[in-house]
Amino acid sequence: MTEPRIKHSIPDARWPTQAEAAASLWFSPTHIGRLAVEQRTWVPAMVPWRATEDGFVTAEVLDWYARFAEGRPGVLVVEATGIRDIASGPLLRIGDDRFIPGLRRLVETVRERSEGHTRLFIQILDFLTVRRRPEPATFFARYLPISSPLRERLARALADQRWLTAAEADVRARLAAAERSLVEAVLDERELESLDYGYRERVWDTHLPWIRDLPRVLPALFAEAARRARDAGFDGVELHYAHAYTMASFLSRLNDRADGYGGSREQRVRVPLEALAAVRRSVGDEYVVGIRFLGDDVVAGGSRIDDAMFYGVELAAAGANYLSVSKGGRFEDARQPKIGEAVYPYTGASGYECMPTVLGDERGPFGRNVPLAAAIRGAVRAAGHETPVVTSGGIHSFEQAEGILRRGEADFVGAARQTLADPDWFRKIRLGLGREVRRCQFTNYCEGLDQRHKQVTCKLWDRDVAPGERDVRMALDGKRRLEPPAWRPPTPS
Ligand SMILES: Cc1cc2nc3c(=O)[nH]c(=O)nc-3n(C[C@H](O)[C@H](O)[C@H](O)COP(=O)(O)O)c2cc1C
Ligand code: SF4
Repeated sequence: MTEPRIKHSIPDARWPTQAEAAASLWFSPTHIGRLAVEQRTWVPAMVPWRATEDGFVTAEVLDWYARFAEGRPGVLVVEATGIRDIASGPLLRIGDDRFIPGLRRLVETVRERSEGHTRLFIQILDFLTVRRRPEPATFFARYLPISSPLRERLARALADQRWLTAAEADVRARLAAAERSLVEAVLDERELESLDYGYRERVWDTHLPWIRDLPRVLPALFAEAARRARDAGFDGVELHYAHAYTMASFLSRLNDRADGYGGSREQRVRVPLEALAAVRRSVGDEYVVGIRFLGDDVVAGGSRIDDAMFYGVELAAAGANYLSVSKGGRFEDARQPKIGEAVYPYTGASGYECMPTVLGDERGPFGRNVPLAAAIRGAVRAAGHETPVVTSGGIHSFEQAEGILRRGEADFVGAARQTLADPDWFRKIRLGLGREVRRCQFTNYCEGLDQRHKQVTCKLWDRDVAPGERDVRMALDGKRRLEPPAWRPPTPS
């Protein structure tokens, strides 16, 4: 999908009666490893931008997850949480023991609000440096390294050997004043990217010592973070091997590291497997360790479903307790950000595939990732593993989810945006009240907020403050409520 073409409407839904829901697969119990799970409903990770600037759980984080817990999904996955002890803005962190007490409160809140019905996992991730797109003047004055090859290109372009030895300040000033064609002749591909998109590291930048060291460093970081997740009381931990981040980049076909951790599939999967093994050693055999990874990178030269089937089998054989399949969300094809903003991986074709909207190709946004999950599940089963597979992406109704399970395409069916639109929807359906479900419009207002690092809300409820309603927590802009209004099942008359 490159250009949006067709505007799809939200399919009509036939909601089940209470008895039909009770007899369904989606609402039937199962297990993940040795963990009993009440339903095969699932809420995948969603970053709501509610942590403190230094990564701690806030009252707003507790309210956000409490509200999802009230809908009592089988599994709720807490947002991508950073495993390093480094500043990363209002994203949750788990890179030190000082984060455990807040995370423990989060676990207790979800247990209490779901009345013990929901299993709570936390997604843990590593990411590399991505800087904002700079002002060109600042880039030329401060960020651009003035190397010998750059001087040579400048001297050649201007047919003037004096640039080989000119003062660095003069080189910078000349480039800052240059027309675009000269800039393009002098900067190499990565330098141009840093100017136009902002500086961004890759896992195959092995000339950088901290990148070279990733295979040595990452397993211990993941293992320690997972141990903290267990100590905080989470029912399991999800290793984020998907989208634009470090582990997905190791898995990507684009990874051409020459140190035994890139190139062939077998080598690309080594760091992810070594981190999984370290996590397992640190949390023990009983604890749930799941993986979220990509069924398809979507970007040119990236991994495809055959790579993902191979990874699924390897991860299952190595003892992953579930495999959650996502798609795309890569930096490589992201749209150019405005000056002062960072590149956002959920733009471009791979971004569309990650969070598809109603503006799309003929297939539409609904259940687009299911074939990927089904293929991975088939490969994992053929290799003799019972590892459950989770699908998500454009899930909007009971019948759709139930069909996926009945056809054996996945073992859990997750919904991120539909659950943001209506966190009570699982409960409403179970009670035979599906007609009351507030249905996601799949137009990505929420994702637009995420892109601007604003507190995420849904357009269907964030202005919906009833006259006289009290204690409504509002977003920093003062205009949007942070959680949907409460819903109570009708009392039988
Ligand atoms: C606001 C927002 C934040 C998200 N944050 C994460 C995240 O932290 N980790 C992750 O793996 N996926 C994240 N996603 C992707 C979702 O988990 C999901 O894969 C995607 O939205 C497609 O599913 P859906 O159609 O049910 O929404 C996010 C999605 C949204 C809308
Ligand atoms: S903002 Fe739009 S896309 Fe996001 S959850 Fe609400 S209705 Fe769905």
